[in-house]
Formats: sequence, structure tokens, C-alpha cells
Amino acid sequence: METNAPKRRDNKKSLRVKVISLGNAEVGKSCIIKRYCEKRFVPKYLATIGIDYGVTKVQVRDREIKVNIFDMAGHPFFYEVRNEFYKDSQGVLLVYDVGLRESFDALDSWLGEMKQEMGSQANMESIVFIVCANKVDLTKRRVVDEGEGRLWAESRGFHYFETSAQSGEGINEMFQAFFSSITDMCENGGKRPVSEVNVGFTKEQADTIRRIRSSKDSWDMLGVKPGATREEVNKAYRKLAVLLHPDKCVAPGSEDAFKAVVNARTSLLKNIK
Ligand code: GTP
Ligand code: MG
Repeated sequence: METNAPKRRDNKKSLRVKVISLGNAEVGKSCIIKRYCEKRFVPKYLATIGIDYGVTKVQVRDREIKVNIFDMAGHPFFYEVRNEFYKDSQGVLLVYDVGLRESFDALDSWLGEMKQEMGSQANMESIVFIVCANKVDLTKRRVVDEGEGRLWAESRGFHYFETSAQSGEGINEMFQAFFSSITDMCENGGKRPVSEVNVGFTKEQADTIRRIRSSKDSWDMLGVKPGATREEVNKAYRKLAVLLHPDKCVAPGSEDAFKAVVNARTSLLKNIK
């Protein structure tokens, strides 16, 4: 299988890698990179025109890593410019704004655009993805919580970090994990180490938590028809309790989902004779 093998220089300890940033316009991609590379924050919005390019050197263990950063413009208008730059990436920063649900919902279409542009070269196992839930400093306008973001990321084998380019929260930790993971991948022959892909919870658990979060009422949450009997409610409850019990399920949001299911059952049983 083809991998996005990074370029090695003569010195075995040094590596050259390419990373790109993806996400809707104005979510903070450029500011995250600026915060890390220049240790500053610019409150005024300066839209990236097509693409911005920068280089930084980082040290991971005994290796010097030269990182080529391609900061993409999120605006649809720049599609023709950025589509050239997807190929040969070892790392992707996927950014959304925790105060804008549409920027979170758009993550799937960003992955879609990337796969389409990489064509036959699209080997997603040879790319490290980090999801940045950005602008966490703006707590009052937050609409996408940590559990939802983390579940989306970790169920795909991606890292998840809460960041604020404004305050600097999470930025260094996120980049350290990013570069260390890319280095691990390179040392693993260009494939993400298994431990990173293995998320420790099942797709069924992740899908069930998502379904519970978006359910419209207690019947819907338990997956029974309105007017179901006590037995039907209890049976549905037991199945969900086994699947989501916090002692057994490590998926992000499982504890809240479990509590919601317990509450739904209690409130339904109160009204069923
Ligand atoms: P495009 O280049 O158009 O794709 O946008 P971008 O994703 O690069 O966004 P950019 O980094 O330019 O930031 C957009 C706006 O959000 C700017 O006004 C930033 O100051 C602001 N911003 C970015 N990150 C944060 C953050 O963590 N907190 C707050 N409060 N504002 C932020
Ligand atoms: Mg930008």
C-alpha cells in the first residue's frame, strides 16, 4: 500500500514533514498556527487568501523535524487554489469553532474534499489527524460540547484537543501531540501506530451516544414507540445500560448518555400503569 512517506535528509535523525490546516473560514486556523509559531494573537480577522505557507523546526525526542505548514483558506471561493495542496501531507489540523455548529458539521465535508483531491493517493492511515475545538475562551456562545467533539474525533482514530488561539489554552499541548504522533508514524514506516487507531470503544457505542444526544423525547431516547409497555421500556433500558455503562464504555459522553437513559426510563415508568 502506498504511504505518504516523508522526505528524509542525510542525517537520519532529521525529518521533513508537511502539514495542512482545514476547516471553515474564520474558525481560527491561521490564529492557531500564529499562536504556536509567533506566540501572539491577532483579534482582527484577516482571511487567508488561498494558502499561506510557513516553516518551523521542532525537536521530538532525538529528532529534528522541519515542518512545512500549509495553512488553507476555508472560504469556498478558494477551492481552486487550495485543492493543489492536499497531496503528500503527513498531518492535518481539522479546526472548528465551538460556537458555530455548522463549522463542526462541516468537518465531514472537509475530509471528503481532501479524499477527493488526493485521489488514488488517499491513504488516510498514513496521515495524523488532530481535531481542534477552537475558541473555547468564548464560553457563553459555546454550542458544541467536549463530548460531542471528542466522540466525532476519537471514533475516527483522530486526536482531539480543546484550544483557544486567543488565550493560548491547549495550543502547545496540541502541537506537541501532533508532531510526536507524526514522528511515531514516520518511525513506524509511514503508518499510524495501531494504538492510535484502536479507540477502545465500538462503532455501536459511538452511534448510540450520538442517537441519544439527538433524541427528541424519552421514548425516542430509549428507542421504543410512544405508548410502549413497562416490559418494553425495561428491555430497551437494559440493552442500553449494558452498552453504555460507564464501567464498560470508555466512549466520550458515555456517562452523560447513561444518565440520560436512566432518567428517561424513570420518567416513562412513572406514567405507565
Ligand atoms: P480563513 O483563513 O478565512 O479560512 O479563516 P481562519 O480559520 O484562518 O480564521 P482566523 O485564524 O483568521 O481567525 C478568524 C477570527 O477568529 C479572527 O478574528 C480571530 O481573531 C478570531 N479567533 C481565532 N481564534 C480564536 C480564539 O481561540 N478565540 C477567539 N475569541 N477568537 C479567535
Ligand atoms: Mg486563515
